Amino acid sequence: MELEKRLREKDAAATRKIMEPTLTQKEEKEALQRSKSQQNNDISNFRKVSRQEYLKKRELKKLDELWDDIEDEEYLFEGVHVTEKECQEMRYKKEMYRLAKKRAEEVDEIMEYKMPEAYDFDGCVNQEKRFSVALQHHRDTGGEKMNPFAEQEAWEKHQIGKAILNFGARDRKKQTQDYEYVFADQIEFIKTSVLDGVKYENELPREIDASFAKTMLQKLQDDRKTLPIYSYREELLQAVEDHQVLVIVGETGSGKTTQIPQYLHEAGYTKKGKIGCTQPRRVAAMSVAARVAQEMGVKLGHEVGYSMRFEDCTSDRTILKYMTDGMLMRELLGEPDLGSYSVIMVDEAHERTLSTDILFGLVKDIARFRPELKLLISSATLDAEKFSDYFDSSPIFKIPGRRFPVEIHYTKAPEADYLDAAIVTVLQIHVTQPAGDVLVFLTGQEEIEAAEEILKHRTRGLGTKIAELIICPIYANLPTDLQAKIFEPTPEGARKVVLATNIAETSLTIDGIKYVIDPGYCKLNSYNPRTGVESLLVTPISRASALQRAGRSGRTGPGKCFRLYTAYTYHHELEDNTIPEIQRTNLANVALMLKKMGINDLINFNFMDSPPLEALVKALEQLFALDALNSRGELTKTGSRMAELPLDPMLSKMIVASDKYKCSEEIISIAAMLSVGNSIFYCPKDKQVHADTARMNFHVGNVGDHIALLKVYNSWKETNFSTQWCYENYIQVRSMKRARDIRDQLQGLLERVEIELTSNPNVLDPIKKAITSGFFLNSAKLQKFGVYRTVKNTQTALIHPTSGLAQVLPRWVIYHELVLTTKEYMRQVTEVKPEWLVEIAPHYYQLKDVEDAGTQKLPRGKGRAAPD
Ligand code: CDP
Ligand code: MG
Repeated sequence: MELEKRLREKDAAATRKIMEPTLTQKEEKEALQRSKSQQNNDISNFRKVSRQEYLKKRELKKLDELWDDIEDEEYLFEGVHVTEKECQEMRYKKEMYRLAKKRAEEVDEIMEYKMPEAYDFDGCVNQEKRFSVALQHHRDTGGEKMNPFAEQEAWEKHQIGKAILNFGARDRKKQTQDYEYVFADQIEFIKTSVLDGVKYENELPREIDASFAKTMLQKLQDDRKTLPIYSYREELLQAVEDHQVLVIVGETGSGKTTQIPQYLHEAGYTKKGKIGCTQPRRVAAMSVAARVAQEMGVKLGHEVGYSMRFEDCTSDRTILKYMTDGMLMRELLGEPDLGSYSVIMVDEAHERTLSTDILFGLVKDIARFRPELKLLISSATLDAEKFSDYFDSSPIFKIPGRRFPVEIHYTKAPEADYLDAAIVTVLQIHVTQPAGDVLVFLTGQEEIEAAEEILKHRTRGLGTKIAELIICPIYANLPTDLQAKIFEPTPEGARKVVLATNIAETSLTIDGIKYVIDPGYCKLNSYNPRTGVESLLVTPISRASALQRAGRSGRTGPGKCFRLYTAYTYHHELEDNTIPEIQRTNLANVALMLKKMGINDLINFNFMDSPPLEALVKALEQLFALDALNSRGELTKTGSRMAELPLDPMLSKMIVASDKYKCSEEIISIAAMLSVGNSIFYCPKDKQVHADTARMNFHVGNVGDHIALLKVYNSWKETNFSTQWCYENYIQVRSMKRARDIRDQLQGLLERVEIELTSNPNVLDPIKKAITSGFFLNSAKLQKFGVYRTVKNTQTALIHPTSGLAQVLPRWVIYHELVLTTKEYMRQVTEVKPEWLVEIAPHYYQLKDVEDAGTQKLPRGKGRAAPD
């Protein structure tokens, strides 16, 4: 108690400190006004006197504060073991206090300059004398015009800075200079504007009943009532009752995703069928489902469940089903009228993912012939008219959100390295700003992991000097148990830093965020239909995104947003809105699914925003080349089988072809490993050599990356899926488990597409041929200096340095993907014989093309009929 009181007093003292510079100005102003009216000609005199008086008082106050500090520290660390350095600092502080006090007493008497005494003439250094000179120096006041307090003020600042650091950044404001002793590379921000708060009138008082401890469930139920959406519950239900299609708009965090399905369930809609709610992101679907299950007091996977590609956590009793938008599209293949659903809620519609956009067209159609189906389109943006127009002018239901004012700060100059700038800003906030959690927007897993490491490293040395910093990463592939960490309340005195991808922009609401750091970037995929290059590039965000990000800091109180770019960039360089994914992605997969649903005329499909015609044509061409469509654009038997597999058309084709080469066991392992992404091998910086050696072990014989992945999977299987084995071989267990999961499901699907499980482990050529059957469009031939030219589009590319063939440089290769990072790279590469291309895809390659490939453009397969 005593300690708390003292800390509070100290806080108050510290708060006063920063007020003073402004007080000086204020006093000066007041003095000025007064003297203007009273004695116009004596302004300067008055000012001088007032300042002198003020400075005297200030000095005494500062001295008192310092003494308080010393006392405090002695009190706090009584009996605690302190290091030699800390002892020294204490001694230094006390001596400074003594000197400053003495000087303060003398300052009135001596105001003229005095020559300091010499102490080291004759070459002999007399320590005692020297010391006395140093002391003397403190007594000297310097010349008349010099500020006799300059030195002391500087010292005070330094001392205060240190003293404050000793007690952490808990709950006080400090001068910005205070942390320069910790971070040399601070960033200067300028505050330019304040994002106005949105008043929320019907705020319900939180019922606090201390007399009995509430159960978790009751508390959650009470929390539900405090959400902005709660007071609109009846109106909303009425609107759903009255209209078939409803566009719902509300500030992120108002409770749309978690509450609306529950309200509908409570109103009885689940008696007529399930309620489905789509999310653009896997993590969001999972975590929201978990939250709703908790609120309803049921087990996740029973009444409330989630479903996504390769992961189904639902059962027969599931009535509230959260799922990715892609998953609902897949369900449409099996159930074209969505007959088991009574309500479909397409959530986060503003994200405009490819699947969301396609879903719009599909559900709009279904709603026409199923009048009892309720359709809710919910979005966080205010561009609701566009959605409403698209859905035949359906009514818009606005949920007034709640947002406190948010201060926007920009950097003075552009930052060269935004990751570094973000980290420095986190530390700056941690040391200088009052309590409140920090949310940092980064672009992806690697960046988040790097930031986490650097932050841990930089705060390690500071020990107890600063308050605890809890670092919580959140990205799509994070295991579920770790995801829960971001929702845990921050312990008192500590600060949580959430390092998140775009997911925290609107999909997930994290309470307690007060500071947002927005570097202004996100990862965006784009696809060039002409070259076939897909890129996942770090791209500047749009202004709409920047606004959303800033808004995240004002949910529970006034917030601050630090933008790591200049105000000029914001106003002149950012786009208004992000381009919808449908206009910048490969459409082959979607085209195949639509064809499977019987939608043949893709060009006239009712798109909200049409994709570029070229991309659509390219997708159809690709499906035709893969033998999924015939020359009339109809689905073939192969295409139909391919559509059953939840994979990209090339991967599906590879699996379908494995039937012919009698190696489906191996091929589904490879497909599963490829589906995990590029996260199989990991390479810690300090053990790079070991990790590289371990990785190259799987490449013995230059078998190519696909076969290497197969070897990894099979070796892991041989060790009975041992975690230890993964550690020893620098392989990520998590990714492997996921690959095993995916493989199991693919195996289950094989039966559905009538492919027999066959294995042919000892001969590699059939396996490679099966791969080629799916990926022959991605062939490339070696030119000079390790540069390849893709046969399809005569695009130049290199083999990715992590490939086992990066040094081998075979003459002919096929690749899994062509990505643009720093250069155009082919990832996951396997050597092929050129005659295989002619053998496997005679409709696409002729012998003469293969012989002089790369020097001339190849036929694209047009004009020839594909084998049906
Ligand atoms: O969808 P919308 O952005 O309108 O809000 P929501 O996702 O339904 O979130 C409403 C509230 O639920 C937020 O205040 C969160 O604090 C809480 N929530 C949570 O605690 N844990 C989750 N996994 C999801 C939401
Ligand atoms: Mg939501």
